[in-house]
Amino acid sequence: VAQEAVGLARHYRCVGIGVGPANLSLASLIHSHSDITNLFLDKKDSFGWHDGQQIPGSTIQVSMLKDLVSLSEPTSGFSFLAYLTELGRIYHFLNAQFETVPRQEFRNYMEWACRKNENIVFGHEVQSVDFTNVFHITTNTMTVTADNVVIGVGVQPSVPPAARPHLGPRQFHISEFMAKSKDLGGLRVGVVGGGQSGAEAFLDLVSRPDESLPRRVVWISRRPNYLPIDDSPFTNDYYSPNYSDYFARLDSATRQALNARHILTSDGISEATLRLIYQRIYTRRFVDGCADLVALYPNRTVVEVSSAPGSAWRLALAHNEHEAVSESIELDVVIWATGYRPTPLTFLAPMQGRLEREGDEYKIDDSFAVTWDGPTENNIFLQNAARGQRGLADQNLSLNAWRSQRILDRLRGVRTEHQVDPFIEWVTKPATGDLQDDQP
Ligand SMILES: Cc1cc2nc3c(=O)[nH]c(=O)nc-3n(C[C@H](O)[C@H](O)[C@H](O)COP(=O)(O)OP(=O)(O)OC[C@H]3O[C@@H](n4cnc5c(N)ncnc54)[C@H](O)[C@@H]3O)c2cc1C
Ligand SMILES: NC(=O)c1ccc[n+]([C@@H]2O[C@H](COP(=O)([O-])OP(=O)(O)OC[C@H]3O[C@@H](n4cnc5c(N)ncnc54)[C@H](OP(=O)(O)O)[C@@H]3O)[C@@H](O)[C@H]2O)c1
Repeated sequence: VAQEAVGLARHYRCVGIGVGPANLSLASLIHSHSDITNLFLDKKDSFGWHDGQQIPGSTIQVSMLKDLVSLSEPTSGFSFLAYLTELGRIYHFLNAQFETVPRQEFRNYMEWACRKNENIVFGHEVQSVDFTNVFHITTNTMTVTADNVVIGVGVQPSVPPAARPHLGPRQFHISEFMAKSKDLGGLRVGVVGGGQSGAEAFLDLVSRPDESLPRRVVWISRRPNYLPIDDSPFTNDYYSPNYSDYFARLDSATRQALNARHILTSDGISEATLRLIYQRIYTRRFVDGCADLVALYPNRTVVEVSSAPGSAWRLALAHNEHEAVSESIELDVVIWATGYRPTPLTFLAPMQGRLEREGDEYKIDDSFAVTWDGPTENNIFLQNAARGQRGLADQNLSLNAWRSQRILDRLRGVRTEHQVDPFIEWVTKPATGDLQDDQP
């Protein structure tokens, strides 16, 4: 039996599928609860966090307190501060006065949390989950059983249909940036996508030393301009437990409308990155004399991709405000920074008919458990796969520790959460006459 050969049991209270920040948070919080036997499986050979686009100089977009555990269990040995302390670099970190933590350092922290946790194993791709009395989780090499399953398989790269036939060494998604963007010196390079990924790629390309600097760097975005993330205090309340619960109780149409309206609170570009980009363009053009290095094309959608004479590509662009005008651009290399989509949960196929859906998502309850026709003590929990029901925060690092705590509480049959009321009255209050009635 394969799992015994590698020292694994046959049955667990909880099996996690995927070890990105979401399930790693739960694996860290659950670690001290030895009564809840658990195993977390990931298909990768070892831990990684979007390593293909670990662009030098990039930083995380949230507070370092939004680590795996701190916002629900600040005394945990799996916190970012515990990592810095254990490695003897806490004073160095403090004195470095980072405004935001380097993304590579946050990744290294999560890798450290994996290494400390004997319940995490890599090299196991889950292929199916079925239920008869218990869940049967089958990977490429073994089957284990569990009373509960927690899915955290995250996101996968997305490119527009027009690009798909052309993907290869000279046309690729940003998730392959580190491997495929090395030799771009002297070439015409296009970045498509006006989110943080596109911004970081553009900044990297225009910052390269002369010998490896592209001849031209074109940045295309469908958004009207290169728009910033809104990281201000009241906006950040959207990324709090209180708001997440409020949001979940709204009707579906309102939830979809709010997600569309608030997209830049999640997917806008960090102001620091925008400033660096603008300054770099200024320096290139007016100080270094590279007059035509940069071309900026916001407010346009790439609608067609074809081969141009030689080895180049031709992109056809539709301008959002001048639909009758068609533009085209010739490029040697195209980098698609066109986002990510939820990883399809194909391994749930054997149970498909038993799980309730809401639109294109599985319907979840307050503890992130999928609504189904099975026993209430057996559950499939979903992390980062319910944006439509839980809002934009669902895919973000902000609520990781809180969401994992909710799941853990459900497994333990307790409620440990403590949140005082938000400053904002999100929930309507039935009229009671005089507003003064509410005053202390
Ligand atoms: C470049 C980048 C930077 C980001 N930076 C931030 C940030 O600073 N702040 C922020 O709030 N958000 C950030 N995000 C958004 C979000 O926090 C990340 O996408 C985060 O990685 C999501 O975590 P996750 O655990 O849900 O999924 P993922 O990190 O995608 O992890 C999912 C894991 O599941 C595994 N898996 C998939 N299928 C299977 C299977 N069948 N069997 C076993 N394992 C499987 C995968 O190998 C992977 O390791 C960033 C996103 C990107 C792309
Ligand atoms: N350092 C960091 O912390 C870091 C780094 C990278 C990413 N992230 C996070 O990861 C998440 C994903 O970011 P992302 O930048 O990869 O994706 P994203 O925010 O979804 O941005 C994708 C962009 O591509 C555009 N697009 C899609 N198809 C297009 C087409 N055919 N023509 C022109 N433009 C097109 C989209 O336009 P529309 O908006 O109109 O759809 C959008 O501007 C975000 O939450 C981001 O904050 C964080």
